Amino acid sequence: MKILFMGMPGVGKGTYAQIMKEELGIPHISSGDLLRDVAKQDSDLGKTVAGIMKQGKLVSDDIMLEIIKQRIQQPDCEKGFILDGYPRTAEQAKMLNSLVEITHVLHFKADDEVIIDRLGGRLVCKGCKSIFHKTGNKPKVEWKCDHCSTELHTREDDKPHVVKQRLELDAEKSKPLLDHYNGEGLLVEIVINKPIHDIKDKVVKRIKDYVEGKSDSIGEIE
Ligand code: AP5
Repeated sequence: MKILFMGMPGVGKGTYAQIMKEELGIPHISSGDLLRDVAKQDSDLGKTVAGIMKQGKLVSDDIMLEIIKQRIQQPDCEKGFILDGYPRTAEQAKMLNSLVEITHVLHFKADDEVIIDRLGGRLVCKGCKSIFHKTGNKPKVEWKCDHCSTELHTREDDKPHVVKQRLELDAEKSKPLLDHYNGEGLLVEIVINKPIHDIKDKVVKRIKDYVEGKSDSIGEIE
């Protein structure tokens, strides 16, 4: 299972990838998390990546390819992986094709106002990177991770002016990318407007059924 999770910033890819990695027994690789680790490094590359992310722009295709290539060659990826946030341009998709054969591409969708609310309220664990939300997916103890008790924080790029830039860039880049995977017959849509506590179990079942070949589509989860 070499699965891609795609969709607009804040739609919920990372949240469901963290859940599905346990269900499917394969690692979750978040391009954003890999880059945030690189951005902390005191190196030229670290400084370049940090500067790009702060503005909500995209890191270059060549840098991305090298980072993803190194990660998917790790032994834990032998049985497969969930790749979340990569590829993000049609060029990156072509580069990925030369490395590995992707088996499933899930396009997560939600209404614009739902996405703005999800980004505005997101909280992330500084330790294990678990994702929460101030109202929709609250931690049991305020500002503390349910899994490792580390402090939660708001992502630097969730500030309103950076969010605007990220959403505009996504609107420009996503169509050719989705067309690419549609053309390969790999793309399915999954629509997740409802709060996570109402639909989580259904989402998990529908994704499992799809990637295990028991169904041939996913659609809207009500
Ligand atoms: P990245 O970290 O990948 O950010 P993104 O794609 O913008 O996606 P997000 O992490 O914002 O959203 P998500 O869909 O994972 O939502 P989440 O699950 O957290 O990338 C960051 C930056 O890195 C980019 O801007 C770029 O600079 C760079 N970069 C990354 N990949 C790159 C690439 N391939 N090429 C070049 N540059 C790259 O959910 C959002 C919130 O909603 C959470 O708070 C969650 O709790 C909440 N929520 C509420 N209800 C629900 C529900 N029903 N389902 C899911 N979540 C819900």
